[in-house]
Amino acid sequence: MSNKNICIAIDGYAGTGKSTIGKILADTIGFRFLSTGSLYRAIAYQCLLKSVDVNNIREVLSVLAETSLDLVYEHGTNTILINGERVLDFALRTREVESATSIVAKYPEVRERVLSLQKDLVSSENIVLEGRDIGTVVVPDAQYKFFFTASPEVRAWRRFRQQQNAGENTTFDEVLTDIMARDIEDIKREVSPLVPARDAIIVDTADVSLCDVIHMVYSELNINANSEDNSSIVLAQ
Ligand code: DC
Repeated sequence: MSNKNICIAIDGYAGTGKSTIGKILADTIGFRFLSTGSLYRAIAYQCLLKSVDVNNIREVLSVLAETSLDLVYEHGTNTILINGERVLDFALRTREVESATSIVAKYPEVRERVLSLQKDLVSSENIVLEGRDIGTVVVPDAQYKFFFTASPEVRAWRRFRQQQNAGENTTFDEVLTDIMARDIEDIKREVSPLVPARDAIIVDTADVSLCDVIHMVYSELNINANSEDNSSIVLAQ
């Protein structure tokens, strides 16, 4: 990296707790946090809004060409602006948007657009970025890299409980099928597939509490959370 900003990259499988842990960690150390999947979700959302068939790359690219994507960060929360209009986060989290996202995220032009937004952020501030290709493609020279994993059954069980609490009418088997399909999409993607960076610390979140994972990640960082001046942060490696 050409400046002194610190990037903590958290990659890994869907449902391993990357977002939850990344957000808590970022709040603790005073870094910005971004779940990069929301940028891919925003592009898929816009395609659906324009009634575009996401399997048709030409249609997706024409939407991309006429769409501006920006981020504003207020009160510790990112809001995505599509063509200057705010998009509510819950609108990006529907099942329909989720399945369209795994298709649009395969297109190199879509990834290029999202990549440049991510690079702008990394060059402007200290950040925790969560995604699939942060440590390998987006910020290969990130100071800290973690790769979260857990068995599909454990992840499906977590998602299933979340969905039950949200009043959604899904079965455990449906959630497990979704999770396994997303794993295949992520691993088999030709551009930026999900793979641990060679220098990433692998974190299996299956049989450990949220607190333990946060503690483990935090202890690797060697960061003084009480410091108001980030220049006193000591790098662990
Ligand atoms: O993490 P998430 O569920 O919000 O991700 C949504 C989709 O975006 C998922 O299909 C994986 C994809 N994604 C990606 O390809 N690269 C990233 N860095 C982040 C997400």
